[in-house]
Amino acid sequence: MKVLIVGSGGREHAIAASVAKSSQVDKIYCAPGNAGIAELAECVDIGAMEFDRLADFAQEKGVGLTIIGMDDPLVGGVVDVFESRGLRVFGPRKNAAIIEGSKAFSKNLMKKYNIPTASYETFTDPEKALAYLETAKMPIVLKADGLALGKGVLICRTREEARAGVKTLMLDKAFGDAGNEIVIEEFMTGPEASVLCYCDGTHIAPMTSAQDHKRAKDGDQGLNTGGMGTFSPSPFYTDEIRKFCEEKIYQPTMDAMKAEGRDFVGILFVGLMLTEEGPKVLEYNARFGDPEAQVVLPRMKNDIVEVMEACIDGKLDEIDLQFEDNAAVCVVLASDGYPEHYEKGKVITGLEDFKGREGYYVFHAGTKRTEQGIVTNGGRVLGVTAKGRDLKEARKNAYEATELIHFENKYMRTDIGKSVDAIIN
Ligand code: AMP
Ligand code: GLY
Repeated sequence: MKVLIVGSGGREHAIAASVAKSSQVDKIYCAPGNAGIAELAECVDIGAMEFDRLADFAQEKGVGLTIIGMDDPLVGGVVDVFESRGLRVFGPRKNAAIIEGSKAFSKNLMKKYNIPTASYETFTDPEKALAYLETAKMPIVLKADGLALGKGVLICRTREEARAGVKTLMLDKAFGDAGNEIVIEEFMTGPEASVLCYCDGTHIAPMTSAQDHKRAKDGDQGLNTGGMGTFSPSPFYTDEIRKFCEEKIYQPTMDAMKAEGRDFVGILFVGLMLTEEGPKVLEYNARFGDPEAQVVLPRMKNDIVEVMEACIDGKLDEIDLQFEDNAAVCVVLASDGYPEHYEKGKVITGLEDFKGREGYYVFHAGTKRTEQGIVTNGGRVLGVTAKGRDLKEARKNAYEATELIHFENKYMRTDIGKSVDAIIN
C-alpha cells in the first residue's frame, strides 16, 4: 500500500518511521516533509492547507491511506475533503477536530458531561472579562479560544498581569482571531502527563504516557515553546491514575463526542494535570503531540497502519495495543534564541553516526537539504530520541547521543526527564 503523511515536523518524521516498519507499506509520500523524512519517504511540494491538491495527489498516485499529522488542516476540514472524494484518511473530521480548535467548545463539553477539568468562564466581551477578574482568585489562566501554536495560554500571577493578558489576547489580538473568545480558568498545580489515544468513534485505546517540557530553559524557566523534550512513560501516571482516567475521562470523552454527533476518529491527545484532587484535563488535541510522538511511537509494538485502519473501520476493539517495557527520552536540539530570534542555515554534522544504531533516532523538525549538506531551518531543529531499560538509562543515552550532533548555535535543555528522579530513586 502507498501511504501519504501530511506535515513537516519531528512528529511526522516519527510517524513516517513507524509507517516504514509496516509490512503492508511499500511506498511513503510526505507533504511537504523535511530533509530527514526524505530518507524514508518521497517528499512532495504541497502545503498542508492545500486540501484539493493533497486529495488530487492521493487520487493520482493511488494512495491507500493518508495520515494527517498537524492540527491546522484537521481543524480546517481536510478529512472531510478526502472523505467526500472516497479517499481513506486517518484523522478527525472538522466537526470533531473542534475539540482542539476551540477551547470554549472543549470546556463546555467537559462541563456538560462531567469530565474533570479546571473551573472556568468564557468571554467574548473584554469589558466583561475585565470585570470578572476584579473578584477572581489569583493566579489565574487566560486562554485564547482558537489555535495559537500552543502559545495562546497566559498564566497570570497577579490581577495586574491578568488585566494586561485580556488586553493582549482580546484587544491587541496577539493571536489574531483566536482571541475573539477567551477562556478564563482556575490555576491548577501538579505534574503534567500527555496521553495519546487511538479512537474509532466508539472505542478508545490509550497509549503509554509521556511528559513534555514546554518552557525554553532548564527548571521550567523561560518562554513557552512548541516543546523542548519529552520522556515516556511518566512514573507520575500510576495504574490507579490510569484507571481513573479510563473511566472518568477517556471513554466519557468518546461518548460525549458521539452524543453530540461528532464521532471522533483519529488521535485524541489528552493533556492532564495530576492535581491533589485527582487528574484533570488541561487540554485536548486532535493529533499526535510533538515531541510526544517521538517517545511514544518508538515504543509501540503494533503495526501502526493496522491500528489506524482499525480506527477508520470502527474496529479498534479488535486491536491489542502493546508497548515495550522500557523507556524513551527525546531531547530537542534548537537554534539558540528560540522561540524568539534565531539564525538559520547552519550546517549540521554528525547525523550519519545514527545510521543503524538500534534504539536511537534523530527526528528532523527544522532542517533543509542544501548544496552544503543538511542545514538548520527553524527554531526546533532535531529531536534526539534514545531508549533505555528505564528512564535514567534512556536519559543518559539520549544526552550522550546529543553530543554526536554539531551545528553552530545548537541549544538544548539539560534537564529533560530530571523531575522523575525524585520519585524513581
Ligand atoms: P494548554 O495549551 O491548554 O495545554 O496550556 C499550555 C500549558 O499551560 C499547559 O501545559 C500547562 O503547563 C499550562 N496550563 C494550562 N492551563 C493551566 C491551568 N488551568 N493551571 C495551570 N497551568 C495551566
Ligand atoms: N507537545 C504538545 C503538543 O503537541 O501540543
